[in-house]
Amino acid sequence: MNKASLFLSVAVSLAVVFTVYAYASRTCTAESVTNDRISAEAAQPAAVPVKGKVLVVYFTSPETDGVDTSSGASRIVADGKLYGNTEYVAALISQKTGGDLFQIKTAHAYPGTHKELLDASKREIDAKARPKLTSHIQRLKDYDVIFVGFPNWWYDMPMPLYSFFDAYDFTGKTLIPFCTHAGSRFSQAEKTIAALEKGAKMQKGLAISRKNLGEAETAIQNWLQRMGFGK
Ligand SMILES: Cc1cc2nc3c(=O)[nH]c(=O)nc-3n(C[C@H](O)[C@H](O)[C@H](O)COP(=O)(O)O)c2cc1C
Repeated sequence: MNKASLFLSVAVSLAVVFTVYAYASRTCTAESVTNDRISAEAAQPAAVPVKGKVLVVYFTSPETDGVDTSSGASRIVADGKLYGNTEYVAALISQKTGGDLFQIKTAHAYPGTHKELLDASKREIDAKARPKLTSHIQRLKDYDVIFVGFPNWWYDMPMPLYSFFDAYDFTGKTLIPFCTHAGSRFSQAEKTIAALEKGAKMQKGLAISRKNLGEAETAIQNWLQRMGFGK
């Protein structure tokens, strides 16, 4: 082999090696991305299918000062209707699951203005009050899945929720909490509910910041789908 052909054959070999390497590394990168995506999906918590007749329970106490939820108040206007924040989330859950709605109502009305509502609710906490409820679930035995929603008040559930959990035994039922809040999410409320209703099958709840209520529908939809609703 003369020098020219030796040079040519080395050059061709190098080109082949380089091309194979370049292709292999590109393929490798593409596969890693795909594998990452698969492992990210596999890492999602397994869907826990929830089945049965649904009841959507909620407590709300919309404030009358402030304009709407984007200005920090506790009410939202949707489809021309005025909702308390938690009431709005309850309505979406009911719409998407076909569940019946049930509002927890108290014998006494809570003040609408922010400062008075803060004071009144704090007095109830200090007194460990169990406010009298005036609404009652008819035929609880017909329901298998109970969503229970409330605003976070003072890093806890409002006291009417304690009256509510005192009044019913959810043994054997699936209990799914949700709340609206201004930053504290559930605080310890999910644990408190599990302790109050030891016989219930608790599902992971959904906490929605009042700042994000306008875009909450997608989060609610995804959360419900993970539990098998709407599939
Ligand atoms: C008396 C009271 C106490 C509150 N305490 C908290 C709190 O501790 N942490 C928090 O994140 N939000 C707190 N908030 C904000 C409410 O959770 C939030 O505005 C909620 O979306 C109100 O829901 P509603 O319109 O259904 O009543 C409080 C609001 C009120 C009126």
